[in-house]
Amino acid sequence: MGLVDLGAGLIRQLPAEAAHRATLKLLRAVNPLLLSAVPDDPRLHVNAFGLNFPNPVGLAAGFDKNAQVPDAMAKFGFGFVECGTVTPKPQAGNPRPRLFRLGRDGAVINRMGFNNDGSAVAARNLRARKRRGIVGINIGANKDSTGADRISDYAWCFAELAPLADYVTVNVSSPNTPGLRGLQNRDELTKLLGIMTNARAQLFDTTPQAHGMRKPILLKIAPDLDSHAMDEIADVVRASGIEGLIVSNTTIGRPPLRSRHADEAGGLSGKPLLEPSTRVLAEMHQRLNGAITLIGVGGVASGADAYAKIRAGASLVQLYTALAFHGPGLVTRIKRELVACLQRDGFSSLSEAVGKR
Ligand SMILES: Cc1cc2nc3c(=O)[nH]c(=O)nc-3n(C[C@H](O)[C@H](O)[C@H](O)COP(=O)(O)O)c2cc1C
Repeated sequence: MGLVDLGAGLIRQLPAEAAHRATLKLLRAVNPLLLSAVPDDPRLHVNAFGLNFPNPVGLAAGFDKNAQVPDAMAKFGFGFVECGTVTPKPQAGNPRPRLFRLGRDGAVINRMGFNNDGSAVAARNLRARKRRGIVGINIGANKDSTGADRISDYAWCFAELAPLADYVTVNVSSPNTPGLRGLQNRDELTKLLGIMTNARAQLFDTTPQAHGMRKPILLKIAPDLDSHAMDEIADVVRASGIEGLIVSNTTIGRPPLRSRHADEAGGLSGKPLLEPSTRVLAEMHQRLNGAITLIGVGGVASGADAYAKIRAGASLVQLYTALAFHGPGLVTRIKRELVACLQRDGFSSLSEAVGKR
């Protein structure tokens, strides 16, 4: 057992938010250059949004809100790391406790509320990076912004952070900022994505050289959508010129749960989210029919879970909650199991399996 695994084991004994803080501290202390990164099986390589992903397993947003440790996380074998959610101004988030482990359910409930140090700090951290792995930045609005200000928050973060990341995720699906998910409605979403693509044109379409640095825009949606809402999102996304869709954020639904904290308010993630988020992913794949690249998130804790998302239409997957239960060795296990799934079903690359139900 290495030092990091030992640290991860001890950290799992702490209350949830203290464990997270201790993990970040440990990771900041570890020189990412010293962590080993084993080259990925070529069958796992994915080309999406014009980026070459060494493998399809990404770290989901929320773990590294201030972009402090993307390089260390990449060294644990993630094919890409999404930092954030970042808002323009720093904000403390909701009062504690706001993060609950549901051990018997393999789940977490959180109502963090976009606690982060603001876009200037995230920008400074991204500028200080020593190594290049694929890093996305997930952006949102401050809690005290409403109406037009809320949309300006996204434009502000885009302008400040897009030049420093490989892709930008527009997060309209956190259940912990009141009213945020209303941005998934047709009119609001059309306006928001229009402003995002305009902001991108202003930044990157000025000269041929700048155009080469143009960043893909992804939208992250909730799993709590009926079929009308999914139709609307698919229409808007198709017309918008953005490149990707992340399905999904945490759920406000409460499937039957067995743990003590099951009734806490907030977004539920982990094992109970696997089935509903994969269902919405498959629905969006059907509606978008390959027009947009999909990333599947929600409850991934094994190669079989990741493979289910890929067969449902995801080109890439992300996870967060399972990391808290299984530790960083999970990433290597998922990749090994994914290769076994591909081999078993006669696919010579992961991309061949995308959407094959
Ligand atoms: C503690 C915690 C904080 C999160 N914070 C964010 C966030 O800031 N932005 C975001 O887009 N998603 C956030 N998420 C959602 C995750 O990125 C992911 O979409 C969700 O947890 C489902 O994946 P999982 O079941 O693998 O955790 C958070 C999740 C957790 C558990």
